[in-house]
Amino acid sequence: MAKDIIRAKKRIQGTVPSKKNAIYNSNLYWSQKPYNIADILIEELSEEGEVVFDPFLGSGVTLLEAVRKKYKRIGIGCEINEAPLLIVSTLLNDYDLNDYHEKSQELISKVRKIEKYYEVKCPICGSLSHTSSVIFNLPNRMAKPELLKVKLNCPKCKRVEKSPDVEDLNSLNNEHELKFLKKTSLIGNSKLAVYDGETIDQIFTKRNFKVLDEIILCIKEYPEYESIFNYILMSVIHLCKITDTHSNSQWPLWIPKKNCVEKNAVDIICKKIEKFEDTIQQVIAEYDSGKKYKLLHKGSQFINDQDIPNNSVDLIITDPPYLGQVAYSEYMQLYKTFLGLDFNLTDEIIVTSTTSRKINENEYFELLNKVFAICDKKMKCGGYFCMYFHDSNLDVWDRLITIMGKNHFKYISQEHIKKTNTLKNIISPKKSLSGDAIIFFEKTRFDYKEYDISESIDEIEKNVIAQITRTLMEKGPQSTPEIYDGGIIEYLVYNGWLKSISKKYKSLVELCEKYYDWDPGINKWKIKE
Ligand SMILES: C[S@@+](CC[C@H](N)C(=O)[O-])C[C@H]1O[C@@H](n2cnc3c(N)ncnc32)[C@H](O)[C@@H]1O
Ligand SMILES: [Zn+2]
Repeated sequence: MAKDIIRAKKRIQGTVPSKKNAIYNSNLYWSQKPYNIADILIEELSEEGEVVFDPFLGSGVTLLEAVRKKYKRIGIGCEINEAPLLIVSTLLNDYDLNDYHEKSQELISKVRKIEKYYEVKCPICGSLSHTSSVIFNLPNRMAKPELLKVKLNCPKCKRVEKSPDVEDLNSLNNEHELKFLKKTSLIGNSKLAVYDGETIDQIFTKRNFKVLDEIILCIKEYPEYESIFNYILMSVIHLCKITDTHSNSQWPLWIPKKNCVEKNAVDIICKKIEKFEDTIQQVIAEYDSGKKYKLLHKGSQFINDQDIPNNSVDLIITDPPYLGQVAYSEYMQLYKTFLGLDFNLTDEIIVTSTTSRKINENEYFELLNKVFAICDKKMKCGGYFCMYFHDSNLDVWDRLITIMGKNHFKYISQEHIKKTNTLKNIISPKKSLSGDAIIFFEKTRFDYKEYDISESIDEIEKNVIAQITRTLMEKGPQSTPEIYDGGIIEYLVYNGWLKSISKKYKSLVELCEKYYDWDPGINKWKIKE
């Protein structure tokens, strides 16, 4: 079937993005992309046997989807850090479910013995029980925890709550000798609420740090399954650290001061080990052993001709690190301590100003430019480059589209993917683009030409407003993402006006505020009455 951006866009409009299935539920990664959107891009913009490449692989959705036996593309992914690469390589293993079942049950019975650290007497019937979670305050990371509540699982009375006593405190806070884990120092970064001198063990209770130490020793008894069990451990470490009552602390190196929660780490890991059987079943169903892929472990600005031959890539789908939004390499400190997985601060593409490295916005775009220049060499003419992006700032759009243009990637269009309601959307539907956009570029053989613009900014503005008004008259009220996707960005780019407009207006929202009414009832822009 011919490759077709219009059809891809239509299908994206009608698709509720999903990240949930037994494969993707089995790990956690920041800004993991929906697999069913990757599927549309792969189906519509590549053919069987073609090469699909992601220079910022992360947890690998692009590659994992591309090499499914349903699609049989050749996948290439480049990623700077080892932890996400472990995610991808583990999911691409060939599995024997029975063997996994046997080994994992053995591991579970060993790990269950470590549950002695959580022993507690049921306050109702006196039975020997296990603490399931403890809630406490921790005014600072050096302080002694002030326990508030202990929850336990009694074999007879089931879920029970008790008020904490000194034994609860001791078993949570006693110092233990560690056999494997080290109290590694963290790299200070005020943006992540991490300060010089703090150590990794301080974001865990002493008990859970010790329990994880022992779990790791159990895992080491299974060398042939070590990477798989490590993968599982990696998917739960953030739950075993001190968390908040909603266990949704997104910052992996952060802990609250009040209402801190310690969960029974043995319970968490044992459940995950069992659940992984579902993952294996789905992996077996979706992949065959002949799958073709290549994982590159380096900064993608260093990809060379041995890594990927020139003129060989058919489709790129990628989600570049976005300015300073997520400090991926620093987050990976969590996995270095427990799994020995290395991270790379030196070559990471990010805007940051920690003491150990400083990269400003211009340097960040220069690095991205290097990567896009490599993509230009590797990609066949006519191939598509799909880039995830989420920002309403017109100058960022302009910068990115210009850099891409200079590397022979011609802007074509973009589409916002739907998003289930997040807090951000609810608070600010007007400003928020309510989810990621995918910008489509096509690799051309023509060199980029700067536009000669004869119109004044007032003329440009008049034209843009006329265009938006036409859209509102034809289609009725429009949300902010609908304004962006409904042809305005295309109109600006094709006329060469994006830069001028971006100098006057930060975003299209600012422009709309001046000329249109915002209807908070339907969260849409409409023509002034
Ligand atoms: C936004 S994430 C990609 C997430 C991915 N789309 C997913 O579904 O999981 C960006 C990734 O780029 C990686 N990264 C940062 N600098 C890099 C570089 N110079 N070369 C390759 N990867 C890099 C980060 O470690 C991070 O995993
Ligand atoms: Zn009881």
